[in-house]
Amino acid sequence: MEILTIFVFIWNFNWTAMITENQIEEALGTLFENIGFNSEPAGLYDPLRYMMGIGGKRVRPRLCLLSYALFKDSFDRKILEPAAAIEVFHSFTLIHDDIMDNSDMRRGVPTVHRKWDRNTAIISGDVMSIDSYRRIAEAPAEVLPEVLRLFTYTAAQVCEGQQYDMDFENADDISMDDYMKMIGLKTAVLIACSAKLGAMIAGADARACDLLYKFGYDLGLAFQITDDYLDTYGDAAVFGKKIGGDIINNKKTWLLTKALEKGGELEKNGAVDASHGKTALLRAMGMNAGTEAEKAAKIEKVKEIYGTLGIDEDVKYEIIKLHASAMGHAGLIGLGKVRYEMLHRYADRLLGRNK
Ligand code: IPE
Ligand code: IPE
Ligand code: MG
Ligand code: MG
Ligand code: MG
Repeated sequence: MEILTIFVFIWNFNWTAMITENQIEEALGTLFENIGFNSEPAGLYDPLRYMMGIGGKRVRPRLCLLSYALFKDSFDRKILEPAAAIEVFHSFTLIHDDIMDNSDMRRGVPTVHRKWDRNTAIISGDVMSIDSYRRIAEAPAEVLPEVLRLFTYTAAQVCEGQQYDMDFENADDISMDDYMKMIGLKTAVLIACSAKLGAMIAGADARACDLLYKFGYDLGLAFQITDDYLDTYGDAAVFGKKIGGDIINNKKTWLLTKALEKGGELEKNGAVDASHGKTALLRAMGMNAGTEAEKAAKIEKVKEIYGTLGIDEDVKYEIIKLHASAMGHAGLIGLGKVRYEMLHRYADRLLGRNK
């Protein structure tokens, strides 16, 4: 063998017995198949079991287990329970988010507040939030204070982001910085926390933990922007949520924020006329959306303006930029090729999604 070939062989060879991506998937499967909750009263726990049972993509516990696997070679309860905690907490936020966004469908089935009622959704969500603390407390004693601090801080940030999200529905205009701050809080911090917790529990050093946090944060931003894109351009049967809900609610998504910014500039310099610029967009945002026909007309109008402004293309570029930034942080950890590529595959899969 030539020297170069030998070198490439050694570089690619996985010398240590490490946890593979297949083993992560198996662990996730077993974890959520066997996840236990109290059974009574059924009115409290049935919605919770429904929500956990239908399952989502589980991107957060997957990331938590993956970052743990970068430093350790076997799983135990001290990482599995905290990984489950993150998913339970996330699912709780979705139940309450669906009340706040008045959403009918989630993960391809009716939302909890539609299938049961609002009060049920509130209290079942609350007990999930509490359950997540019980599970996070299973982290190893030596890192538990730090783990709890991060988890609690993150949970409060998610609420702050959700409040900005609601506040912004009633604003005509927000800046791109405001938007990024809002999604940083409502979505990116929990994904960042998932990545960091896995590494912390594995006993990784502070530098690696912080870089994984940054990796997760940038991916989280890109993840929410992808969600915004799919809310307008996705396929409801695959996405599992109704398409166009963000437009109906005047949600300040990346698409709307960018379209207001770009539509304003292009209208000012005459590149688009008022019928496809910011003026038209503001008018479309004011359209009634009570009946199904009104909803469809509003969605159609906003999409037409996005198309003229090229927003559907701009958004893809933004996602690619954030993905590259995330991988930049991952590259600094000094993981070696095999582990770095595990993070790379995770990031590709996360953003290449259509559901
Ligand atoms: C939905 O999260 C809420 C966002 C932060 C975009 P996911 O897209 O991870 O939802 P599930 O858990 O897979 O259903
Ligand atoms: C949800 O954002 C973020 C949180 C639940 C914290 P969205 O409102 O965009 O999520 P979906 O689209 O309903 O899943
Ligand atoms: Mg929301
Ligand atoms: Mg929502
Ligand atoms: Mg959304």
